[in-house]
Amino acid sequence: VLRDLLSFAKRHDLWIVSDEVYEFFTWDQPHVSLAALDDDDRVFSVFSLSKTYAMTGIRVGYLVTPRGLAPVMRSVQEASISCVNTPGQHAAVAAITGSQQNLSDARDHYRANIAAATALLDSKGIEYLRPAGTFYLWVRVDYVSDGDVAEWAERFLLESRVAVAPGSAFGRSGEGWIRVSLAADLDVMLAGLDRLPLPVA
Ligand SMILES: Cc1ncc(COP(=O)(O)O)c(C=O)c1O
Repeated sequence: VLRDLLSFAKRHDLWIVSDEVYEFFTWDQPHVSLAALDDDDRVFSVFSLSKTYAMTGIRVGYLVTPRGLAPVMRSVQEASISCVNTPGQHAAVAAITGSQQNLSDARDHYRANIAAATALLDSKGIEYLRPAGTFYLWVRVDYVSDGDVAEWAERFLLESRVAVAPGSAFGRSGEGWIRVSLAADLDVMLAGLDRLPLPVA
């Protein structure tokens, strides 16, 4: 798929912005950066500490550009934000240079949560997409969402006290699906999933 994407971009002379923020959270195969396969400098790779070190609030990420384009990107960036705040820079250095035990604990936690979540949904006969990476699960709820999953997700939050993202927020093909985060503690996550309505037979 990655090679197909690159040859498509080459054929049409396109840049590619490759979102690789989940580089450490792939489950069935190792992460391969698109830039590693790029032999004619058209890939920008985006990375973030938000997922790798669970540092979402610190707001630090970085961009790896094709050869020679970093100065151009710096000019673009300077016009919108001047730089990362000082505490954020110190936090990023500490995360990257410190022990990576938290990262491997996080991988174990997400992997175990995915196994538990999918086992629960299997037992209830609820359809889902098994994640090849990330800590999100897409769950099919079209048997209750009645063509408006955003409205249903809001009602599910108010009535069942479970927050999920409506699939329609990610594009039209997400209608009838929800995206569930599996990052929480195991018990909390299972309690939330357990409140999903059973599919209509
Ligand atoms: C695929 C993907 N890319 C990028 C981001 C944004 O991360 P950041 O916190 O660095 O803005 C997210 C956050 O949910 C994400 O899921």
